[in-house]
Amino acid sequence: MPSLVVELGERSYNIEIGQGLLSRSDLWTPFCEGENVLILTNQIVEPLYLQTIVEALPDKKVFTYVLPDGEVEKNLDNFAEILNFLLEKQFRRNDTLIALGGGVIGDLGGFVAASYQRGMGFLQMPTTLLAQVDSSVGGKTAVNHSLGKNMIGAFYQPKLVVIDTLTLKTLPDREFTSGLAEVAKYALLGEKELTALIQQQADKIIQREQSILSQLIYFSCQMKAKIVAADEKESGNRALLNLGHTFGHAIEKMSEYKRYFHGEAVAIGMHMALNLSRLKEMVSEQAVAQKKLLLDCLNLPKRLPKDYSAEALIEVMKLDKKNLSSKFRLILPKDEGCVIVEEDELELIQTAISLQYEES
Ligand code: NAD
Ligand code: GLY
Repeated sequence: MPSLVVELGERSYNIEIGQGLLSRSDLWTPFCEGENVLILTNQIVEPLYLQTIVEALPDKKVFTYVLPDGEVEKNLDNFAEILNFLLEKQFRRNDTLIALGGGVIGDLGGFVAASYQRGMGFLQMPTTLLAQVDSSVGGKTAVNHSLGKNMIGAFYQPKLVVIDTLTLKTLPDREFTSGLAEVAKYALLGEKELTALIQQQADKIIQREQSILSQLIYFSCQMKAKIVAADEKESGNRALLNLGHTFGHAIEKMSEYKRYFHGEAVAIGMHMALNLSRLKEMVSEQAVAQKKLLLDCLNLPKRLPKDYSAEALIEVMKLDKKNLSSKFRLILPKDEGCVIVEEDELELIQTAISLQYEES
């Protein structure tokens, strides 16, 4: 695929997408500045892909830092431990940190890179679909706090994003489907080529046909790059990337992050956003049906058990960090694309949620 660029002036960077790019050291080693490189990864990804990266850097002093797997590792203790490691090994600010893994590794690694001596070299090498189409692009970095997810972090852009689509071959099915929810999000935000690709090639996407996946990731990153370039720090339209997320985060939180993967909860949340938009007559019935069909053809989940009461979900949604007042700040689909809406009609939100309950 051709390179994509996230246009941010002096901090602009490329997104490279293709099969086997981790082995294409000519493409990414020129971005590893300094004498030292730290590769941050986890115990699942290490045996699969670490060796390729280490072997590509014979002229560098290469260190690896391997975390256990899981969202729980995206914490302040690990953040501090990795900073200790960098200090002990006498890393300089012109050295490089490579985040090799999913969104957990990318978010944590990015926050370490942003903080070490006020900012060191940083490369994203995402290995999950979710990280390839969303978290590795745009510079949001963070760790979780016991009082909330992603509550401590910084905007810090990488120098390069290397997306090797072959890494998706080893991804478990549920993780892959969860990533597809973020892909569908870009289609609902109005990415026409992506919408057509999903409508025409859903079977090949689900079978993970490599050439189709490259296109799917390309169109997703193209849209994200455009939105980030226009609003890096989310003072405006970057919030559109949160379609389905206010509902989704509440579902994840109510399940204590155990029952639903992020993308699964977002997929159900996108159905709720479509319901709400229809209840407010902001979108036609026909467009809702078409958009719901698009979500269905990617086999995304859409139903919620009735024990997730609408009242309880709304209480959690009140704490969403997008809300700027007592109103809910929601992203609602229109016939074409989506808009940001300040909403305070609790009954409508309640109905939008309850329309997604499992049938008894
Ligand atoms: P993850 O990093 O936990 O990866 C999911 C699972 O896949 C893990 O078990 C991981 O070890 C495994 N894995 C990774 N690559 C693999 C591969 N190629 N083969 C086999 N297994 C592999 O989760 P995720 O879904 O990638 O990311 C979720 C995180 O991303 C959350 O912390 C979320 O907050 C964050 N996020 C950040 C942004 C952002 O803009 N920064 C956007 C969306 C999500
Ligand atoms: N994942 C949402 C954003 O990057 O803004």
